[in-house]
Amino acid sequence: MIDVRALAESEFRSAHDLFRRALLLPPCKDDAWENTRGRYELGRVLGAFDGGELAGTAMATTNELAVPGGQVAAGAVTGVGVRADRTRRGVLRGLMRAQLDDAAKRGEPVAMLHASEAAIYERFGYGLASRHRKVELERARVVFRDDAPRGGQVRVLDWEAAISLLPEIYRRCVVDRPGTIGRNEAWWSGMRQYLGDGCLVAVHADEDGADDGFAVYEPKPGDGGTTVDVHDLKGADATAVAQLWRFLLGIDLVDRVVGHVRPLDEPLEWWLTDRRRCAVTEVADDLWVRLVDVLAALRARSYGAAEPVVVEVRDAFLPDNEGGYRIGPDGVERSTAEPQLSLDVSTLAVLYLGDQLPSTLVAAGRIEMRDPAAVAAADRLFATLETPWCGTGF
Ligand SMILES: CC(C)(COP(=O)(O)OP(=O)(O)OC[C@H]1O[C@@H](n2cnc3c(N)ncnc32)[C@H](O)[C@@H]1OP(=O)(O)O)[C@@H](O)C(=O)NCCC(=O)NCCS
Repeated sequence: MIDVRALAESEFRSAHDLFRRALLLPPCKDDAWENTRGRYELGRVLGAFDGGELAGTAMATTNELAVPGGQVAAGAVTGVGVRADRTRRGVLRGLMRAQLDDAAKRGEPVAMLHASEAAIYERFGYGLASRHRKVELERARVVFRDDAPRGGQVRVLDWEAAISLLPEIYRRCVVDRPGTIGRNEAWWSGMRQYLGDGCLVAVHADEDGADDGFAVYEPKPGDGGTTVDVHDLKGADATAVAQLWRFLLGIDLVDRVVGHVRPLDEPLEWWLTDRRRCAVTEVADDLWVRLVDVLAALRARSYGAAEPVVVEVRDAFLPDNEGGYRIGPDGVERSTAEPQLSLDVSTLAVLYLGDQLPSTLVAAGRIEMRDPAAVAAADRLFATLETPWCGTGF
């Protein structure tokens, strides 16, 4: 029998160590725990007990998610782990049940996470809502085109000097793209421990001297030469982002620059005289989203100009969501009209931020098409201007 309850503060560290062991990592050292504990919110850290012993844990932090045309309250689910000797007996299922019920009680229409494996969370109604890519460039062969955006100044700071600036730059400059989430103080102090001692920060200021972008990067010498790993690069506009890349690709003695967790539509290769110098070496899962309250979540985003479409949603894990929804540019209502499209709530999550169009998921067999005329309308309703991207680990 698995019992799930919210943990007391005194139990957070053992939950964190259980999570680390599940990820095959050693227990947390004291200083690392000091940087991590702030992310644990009382009431949102769950423990699953089997025979009185902690067998698994999952937590969520209170956050917001940018969706097309707005923002929605969204719990950021993380710290999910089950003891290796207690897996496959329903511990995760019990945790997910308690966590989604809690999110519903809190009035959070959406839950979100980064998944260690793609096969785990769909059964609980999560769908892959955004993806990211990894890019690798041989520095000596990279030349920027004359028409690539240019302007402002880049200055280099060490982490300690930069940390007082970054949260504010992030808050001011990085807000609208669907998939963007908030980064609170606890997130920034937790970030530090994942970076090596040689980590540096480049800050971009625009022509008026206002900071509008940053790159967190780490030069690493190796057998094949020196690589700069770019862990985090955000800017208010294309000029800030291009100028940061120009800086990183201009550092002397560097052989390779690797951009991790970059947006799919970043025009880096289009800024270069030879696009092939920017190799995309990976496209991977970014944010998984769960529509906890389908009506509220659908209402939180805007839609393109098209005829409204009636969509039937199936949701075995949270059946209150099941039924028809009429989705149109003027809003979303529950509907008892004959559905034109039918899908699982996890598939709706794939459409939610605009990563995939309904027509793609019809072709994939993930959306049942009852009225073929509705597909083109649904594409126009769900299409977004920007590709979704989270780019924030948690
Ligand atoms: C992933 C993990 C949390 C699953 O916990 P668990 O208690 O074994 O999961 P449950 O027994 O509740 O399984 C629920 C369902 O998910 C399936 N499932 C669980 N883990 C799975 C996995 N890694 N791959 C595929 N299916 C999985 C189970 O087979 C079960 O399916 P069913 O509903 O059809 O019976 C656990 O294996 C773990 O801690 N792994 C290492 C750490 C990790 O990856 N954490 C997730 C971080 S995002």
